[in-house]
Amino acid sequence: MKEMLQIRKATSSDNSTVMDFVAATGFFRPVEIEIANEVLTEAAEGKPACTYQSYVGILENKPVGWICFGCTPCTLGTFDVYWIAVDPAYQRHHIGSQLLSFVEGEIRKQKGRLIVIETSGSEQYLPTRGFYERNGYTLSATVKDFYAPGDDRWIFTKAEIS
Ligand SMILES: CC(C)(COP(=O)(O)OP(=O)(O)OC[C@H]1O[C@@H](n2cnc3c(N)ncnc32)[C@H](O)[C@@H]1OP(=O)(O)O)[C@@H](O)C(=O)NCCC(=O)NCCS
Repeated sequence: MKEMLQIRKATSSDNSTVMDFVAATGFFRPVEIEIANEVLTEAAEGKPACTYQSYVGILENKPVGWICFGCTPCTLGTFDVYWIAVDPAYQRHHIGSQLLSFVEGEIRKQKGRLIVIETSGSEQYLPTRGFYERNGYTLSATVKDFYAPGDDRWIFTKAEIS
């Protein structure tokens, strides 16, 4: 991929493109896509301040990646990365890694000290878990049968980001 990825705040005009590729990944259930849409809309409206912050990665004048993160309520300096998805046509070109690294920079600026990312322990998510490990995240805990019987929650963290 020769063109440089541009990263900017998501706006409501990005919703349909982002939702299309989120669905196209085949990784999210309809109810999750609905929540992703709500989260994206809320972040685009800019409220509340730090809890949902949404950015898109732009290539060829269109969003090809989306990341949403926020400060975790009732914590001091902990942030969650809630969503990350890259258009399947653009995966494996380090777009996800660039979005994650950008967000780490934003979290650092906001005095964050710990990043938490939760994902599924299912076989389908093996590449996703590999992606987080490759980006320096450590498995901190698992919750058995969290998402469904046989589908565990894996909690990855990265500390010392400041
Ligand atoms: C996870 C996701 C965001 C990664 O984005 P991406 O731009 O494709 O990932 P990158 O190109 O930055 O990958 C960085 C490294 O992660 C690992 N990785 C990423 N995708 C992988 C895959 N499908 N299989 C194996 N390893 C993979 C590789 O080590 C890769 O480095 P390399 O290509 O130099 O070997 C993207 O695959 C995606 O949208 N997946 C579906 C949705 C999802 O799982 N979201 C997270 C929900 S918790």
